[in-house]
Amino acid sequence: MSGEPGGKPVLVFDSGIGGLSVLAAIRKLMPTQRLVYVADDAAFPYGNWKEDELSAHIVRLMGDLIATHDPAAIVIACNTASTLVLPPLRAKFAIPFVGTVPAVKPAAEQTKTGVIAVLGTPATIARDYTRQLIASFAQSARVQLVAAPRLATIAEDLLRGVAIDREIIRQEIAPCFVEIDGKRTDIVVLGCTHYPFLIAEMNAVAPWPVTWLDPAPAIARRLVSILNGAIPGPGGESIALFTSGRPVPPPLASLLKSDGLIATA
Ligand code: DGL
Repeated sequence: MSGEPGGKPVLVFDSGIGGLSVLAAIRKLMPTQRLVYVADDAAFPYGNWKEDELSAHIVRLMGDLIATHDPAAIVIACNTASTLVLPPLRAKFAIPFVGTVPAVKPAAEQTKTGVIAVLGTPATIARDYTRQLIASFAQSARVQLVAAPRLATIAEDLLRGVAIDREIIRQEIAPCFVEIDGKRTDIVVLGCTHYPFLIAEMNAVAPWPVTWLDPAPAIARRLVSILNGAIPGPGGESIALFTSGRPVPPPLASLLKSDGLIATA
């Protein structure tokens, strides 16, 4: 189905470049799958939107994208969107959706100290969905919920070749690092798909080493299982679309190229 030449693509969707961290994991498991990456950068950051307006916006945009690209499956490679809009998307469209939500359960299973942090956009951290994940899967752990208003934009800047300020990164991640009864945070859940691009920068300013938990490999495995484990054949051209229509700066262009994506207007 999905891997036939000219066959249906998988659509990978985010508010910006963050979903490329998920796309890279998909590429590893499905190297020849045709992919359509959509960055709704005209609406970035989703973290600042009102819930009902964001939900209506994404459902409307998804209708257009489905009509244009006829995807086999859609990966919502954005925590801020997935923690809000998966139910209305699934109710409206028959296509399989794979969401991205904070990896609270694996973090609670893997922590050695019992102290973990969930780092996300202010919207994701405030969502009922995120609170529910913690109530359901992390009752045995101490969980720091950390809202980072600026990190996603810093990741955008980094990948667009704009100078970034490490001191702001240090301030944004600082509340993740706590010591409770002599036990320190050992896992930070990356609850925003932009953050894997900042791991080197975050390591440089972290007060002690931690595991940064990126859900991307698990999302890629989930996608493969949804597509019935079909090993895709050559699938044709993969593209990246930016809803703003802004020109793609050189550092981002080379990242897209390394992911096998052709930027289109
Ligand atoms: N990449 C998005 C996420 O995973 C967030 C960035 C935004 O605020 O738009 O949450």
